[in-house]
Amino acid sequence: MKSLSSSDNIRSKILEIIEYYNGNTALSLIPVLNMIQDTEGYIKKERIKEIAEILKINENRIYETLTFYHFLTLDKSEKRILYVCRGISCLLEGADEIIEYLKDNRDRLNFDFRECECIGLCDFAPAGLFDFNPVKNLDVKKIKELNEKV
Ligand code: FES
Repeated sequence: MKSLSSSDNIRSKILEIIEYYNGNTALSLIPVLNMIQDTEGYIKKERIKEIAEILKINENRIYETLTFYHFLTLDKSEKRILYVCRGISCLLEGADEIIEYLKDNRDRLNFDFRECECIGLCDFAPAGLFDFNPVKNLDVKKIKELNEKV
């Protein structure tokens, strides 16, 4: 029996998602992108053409969706990622200073970081997600601790 290639496997999962959404390709787009991101860690440019063909939608629409949602990415990161919220509650509690610190120390970090919109942890601002796990009351001390652990 022939095993499925990575591309065949992704294609088969895309078709399952479309079936789950009763053939509604518009509703299927975000679940498809999430599935690919979870499976491959990012959305390869080659996948966009493939997704567009299968879902019968314009590639530009896929790029629009990808650039709108911060957790979907076209960039492959070899490192783990800290998402730092820059929603209003986090900005009021100093997220800008944290982001500046991260930018100034980028070369010394053992992880990547990205900015994102509100992640629903406003009571613990400034907040972030590391490997999609909440990091509450983010500060430089926590970033240094995180950097040592990674
Ligand atoms: S504004 Fe940062 S978690 Fe809501």
